Amino acid sequence: MATAPPTDIVAEIKRLAKERNAVILAHNYQRGDVQDIADVVGDSLALSQEAAKSSADVIVFCGVHFMAETAAVLAPTKTVLLPDLEAGCSLAATADAEQVRAWKVRHPQAAVVAYVNTTAAVKAEADACCTSSNAVKVVESFPKDQEILFLPDMYLGQFVREKTKRKIHLWPGSCHVHYAITDADIEAQKKAHPQAELMVHPECGCLSSALKHADFIASTSGMVRHAKESPRTSFLVATETGILHTLQKQNPSKTFLPVARAAECEFMKKITVEKVLWSLQSLKHRITVPPDVAAKARRAIDRMVATF
Ligand code: 13P
Ligand code: SF4
Repeated sequence: MATAPPTDIVAEIKRLAKERNAVILAHNYQRGDVQDIADVVGDSLALSQEAAKSSADVIVFCGVHFMAETAAVLAPTKTVLLPDLEAGCSLAATADAEQVRAWKVRHPQAAVVAYVNTTAAVKAEADACCTSSNAVKVVESFPKDQEILFLPDMYLGQFVREKTKRKIHLWPGSCHVHYAITDADIEAQKKAHPQAELMVHPECGCLSSALKHADFIASTSGMVRHAKESPRTSFLVATETGILHTLQKQNPSKTFLPVARAAECEFMKKITVEKVLWSLQSLKHRITVPPDVAAKARRAIDRMVATF
């Protein structure tokens, strides 16, 4: 459990947020104390939806760069701030727009579905974006016989292929945190805690074991909802460990164990309460997307936000 930040910092964040008409959005993988000062905590889809509908003038994005870019595309008149520019994403870094254009040339009939973990320039090359919570539905929204180029996460892509039985070409990308959650981790934890319900994020490298053993495969917020509704009292959680804070906070009488304790995203953890305060004071770092890229990315993102 994270140590609570000094109350004066929290009070100053709240005061400044009000003065600037700012909303603080935090991803489920953020540090516990950052989640606790946020107005909304959620998965990629929920935070995008929030950015799109918010009436705030300023959005402080406690997440990673591509998420702040998505918010900037959806809310072009708002000031979108990322408290640390080093909050990147190893998965988003596996694909650039030029590579995607070359891929499209090799498959001219295919539709491109880009996972939200991509740069705005890559999203601008896509027909639709998706998150882990709606990837299956987004792919199914294309005609049945349409080939799909799915990028950049190959595990999520495999999962979608399994579920939809569609012809899907996969980009060979993965997230270093989820890649390191292996079949061996799942097998060992299932053996040690046979009574626990297993929840798995579809980005995980343990996908083949997950498809065999998992009780529930979903996005981070899907897991949060499921843990609340499930009659079970103990859970094994295969994803980044920041989510354990939300799960435990919302279900104090239940037990949550990480499948891999080392599954921590250093990019997500770049954001601290102190940096959130600094961000509100200095109105930095402002994330913007060039209008031509934003206009193209917006079509693909709108399709994602509308599909749930
Ligand atoms: P979701 O919260 O949408 O499940 O995404 C997970 C993730 O890896 C974001 O970086
Ligand atoms: Fe990117 Fe993986 Fe970190 Fe998510 S957990 S932000 S996919 S590096």
